Amino acid sequence: MRLIDNYVKNFVQKYYEIFEPKVLKADELLKSKSCVGSEMLGWQDLNSDLEYIKNIAEDINSKSDCVLIIGIGGSYLGAKVAIDFLSPVYKNKIYFIGFNLDSEYLNNILKKIKDKKIHVVVISKSGNTIEIKTTLDIIINFIKKKYNQDLHKYFTAITGKKGFLRNFAETNNWQILDIPENVGGRFSVLTNVGLLPIALAGADIKKIVLGAKEMQKNLENLDSDCHKYAIIRNVLYKNGLKIELFASFNTRMLSFMEWLKQLFGESEGKEGKGLFPASVLFSTDLHSLGQFIQEGSKILFETIFFVKNLKYNLKLSEDFKNYKSINEINEKIFKSTVLAHYKGKVPCNIIEIEEFSEFELGRLIYFFEFSCALSSLMLGVNPFNQPGVEVYKKIMVN
Ligand code: PA5
Repeated sequence: MRLIDNYVKNFVQKYYEIFEPKVLKADELLKSKSCVGSEMLGWQDLNSDLEYIKNIAEDINSKSDCVLIIGIGGSYLGAKVAIDFLSPVYKNKIYFIGFNLDSEYLNNILKKIKDKKIHVVVISKSGNTIEIKTTLDIIINFIKKKYNQDLHKYFTAITGKKGFLRNFAETNNWQILDIPENVGGRFSVLTNVGLLPIALAGADIKKIVLGAKEMQKNLENLDSDCHKYAIIRNVLYKNGLKIELFASFNTRMLSFMEWLKQLFGESEGKEGKGLFPASVLFSTDLHSLGQFIQEGSKILFETIFFVKNLKYNLKLSEDFKNYKSINEINEKIFKSTVLAHYKGKVPCNIIEIEEFSEFELGRLIYFFEFSCALSSLMLGVNPFNQPGVEVYKKIMVN
């Protein structure tokens, strides 16, 4: 992957140099583990026991043909990102639930899988999240009715040291994997939280972590794309742009952009500050929000993903003038969109992705985790807490 900044440079050059020392400071604080929120920097360790995770995944896969993953926020998004990005061989056996409380959605899934051999993986760091407890209640009854005995064989919990889930899983003798205390939900994709479901779907977790480690090594260079991207975001924010619009031309990127919204939204959006992360899928949204992006209020900049090497490329008939395949046209639309938006005074970062591979995904995940931490520190907020998320929960119990 690489950042192409040709269509953003002009918008940031005035302040770029002023922000350079800020990124260097943030980098130093992060790498020396002395920044605000430094107790939550475990995501930089990349030391999960991959052999252990792979063995557990193989064991679960050997006795099930369907896995229910119960999780919300950072406890499921990372895994969903990887499964959608990679489209691995067992992707269709994984069902995500618990990220909403939509009875119809859950009911439809339960109907679909009722005759299958099921395993349930429940993921919650706090172990107390209401959506997870509620979904688990339904699923436990469903499993009880289906299997009657030895219920513990059908459940795995991935959780923190304390909380309802930890107690319940221990009492009922479930298999338990730990979530490191020093890693928050949205930064946990490369721990047991993300890696077990990804391995269950059949993707190669070793290659993902290898990609992340390679990116980490790259970031020793203080002039890296990641440092540049953090500077650009902060300069554009200072220039009055309040929205970062992620855009892609590939449906495989949809979940990735959802994760970015969570990563940046929860990390930066506090103390009355932060860029609002939003996302669009092109061409679809060129025919809806495209008008606003081109000519509407000047409140946003774009970060556009473009994937270079794609596995599928449908060929057009010879009657079709000037173009031979869909991908050729898609690339032309991408280039034209960037030029049009740039002309419309919308700054565009371009992130070029090599391919939909495990290695590239690992690189991307670490790139965005690190750039998010850098950006948040430059903004002067703690990247690793989310006090705002607690407010609705407190209102609920009153
Ligand atoms: O990033 C975060 O910390 C949050 O999005 C959490 O992942 C989310 O709220 C779920 O929390 P828990 O894992 O405790 O159920």
